[in-house]
Amino acid sequence: MCRWGLLSAARPRLTTRSDQVRSDEVTDEAGQTPRSSAERQSTEACVGDLIRNVAVGDVAHGGHCVARVDGKVVFVRHTLPGETVDVRLTHDKGRFAQGDAVAVTEPSPDRRTPPCPLAGVCGGCDFQHATPEASRRLKARVVADQLRHLAGVDFDGSAEAVTPDDLGWRTRMRYEAAADGRPGLRRFRSHEVVPLPPGGCRIAAPGIAVPDVAGVAALTLDGPVTPPRSGSAVVREAVADRIFRVRADGFWQAHVAAPTVLTDAVLAAAAPRAGEKALDLYCGAGVFAGALVDVGCRVWGAEGDRGAASLATRNVPEATIVTGDVARVLRRLPDDPAIVVLDPPRAGAGTAVMRAICASQPRVVVYVACDPAALGRDLAAARACGYDVADVRAYDLFPNTHHVECVATLRPTRSGGADNIAAGTYSRGHER
Ligand SMILES: C[S@@+](CC[C@H](N)C(=O)[O-])C[C@H]1O[C@@H](n2cnc3c(N)ncnc32)[C@H](O)[C@@H]1O
Repeated sequence: MCRWGLLSAARPRLTTRSDQVRSDEVTDEAGQTPRSSAERQSTEACVGDLIRNVAVGDVAHGGHCVARVDGKVVFVRHTLPGETVDVRLTHDKGRFAQGDAVAVTEPSPDRRTPPCPLAGVCGGCDFQHATPEASRRLKARVVADQLRHLAGVDFDGSAEAVTPDDLGWRTRMRYEAAADGRPGLRRFRSHEVVPLPPGGCRIAAPGIAVPDVAGVAALTLDGPVTPPRSGSAVVREAVADRIFRVRADGFWQAHVAAPTVLTDAVLAAAAPRAGEKALDLYCGAGVFAGALVDVGCRVWGAEGDRGAASLATRNVPEATIVTGDVARVLRRLPDDPAIVVLDPPRAGAGTAVMRAICASQPRVVVYVACDPAALGRDLAAARACGYDVADVRAYDLFPNTHHVECVATLRPTRSGGADNIAAGTYSRGHER
């Protein structure tokens, strides 16, 4: 007998099968027809088991939906809220488990046939089985949940569609070497590489060359760049009237429209006035710094990657770019900015950085976030030191995946922040 949590470590880890969502797959890894769910649910559930007819609940952060097996929460991939599915259990994490829907007995009306034969196999597109509209509804729900639970912030907006809103949007692709040396894509949470399907990756922008070897392929203002040249190439990108030089294999927003959409969102949120001091933290190649300079601000940027910081200096010579960890270099930037824009990596900025930003009392903070959970934590930190969340927009800049980009606008509260800061609670000098 196998009870939750007891056998997961003793059993070999499950290798999931390739085309997982097929209604005709009803046997387990050994080809045996599993016991009925009633029988299974009464006694046991193990990693590797197939649990039939599981009722799927709401969407959760990370591309899963929530279900219960034996009273235990199971995060299930490849499914949609309201479906009934057969679940192969993949991981037992103690308080919860994870699994993959391998057969759909009652599909959601939001389900579609994924456009890519690798959907559910490759780690990239975990929402291809949802229509683009449904996928955006799920993302909006996740943003709302994360912000409410982590920051006490109500979000009732949508995940706004950005063209192209389904396939062909990605201007950067990282291909891995498959066993035969040809380029492929990683399986979900695995080092195993699956060969590209005929016709290549469906979310890659048309014009990205499908290379012969592994590496980064990019579609740039200078045309397609393929490996191995991408490792050393500095290419050009355009946003508004400004040209940005970036490394082909360095950070650049992946969706073809993202740099423009996010720049417009940042400017709308910040409402910059000529002559104001503005900080662009985690500035990369300087996209937001350039936009703020172009509307007359005096701009300082901070970026941890030396190569990107050096390119930002060339891209936005009017700005002062400081190289280093934002948490450390903040004190080298003006302590009285009117505007702070930050676009940290997935983990977020962290409490210390948020406190330091608030301590400098900008009239507006614009936070660009690729992870709503990290955003929620950082908004909570800002709220605790005197900033209110005035607005949050969400953009579907990663169609067919569970990822979503948010832009949050924060302004000082009328009283709390000033009191805290005046009392020295959040002095920048206390950071780190
Ligand atoms: C999401 S990207 C944003 C880049 C830029 N805003 C853009 O849109 O192109 C995050 C950037 O933060 C940089 N970064 C990550 N951690 C950092 C840290 N602790 N301090 C400074 N920069 C950091 C990365 O190198 C990357 O360029």
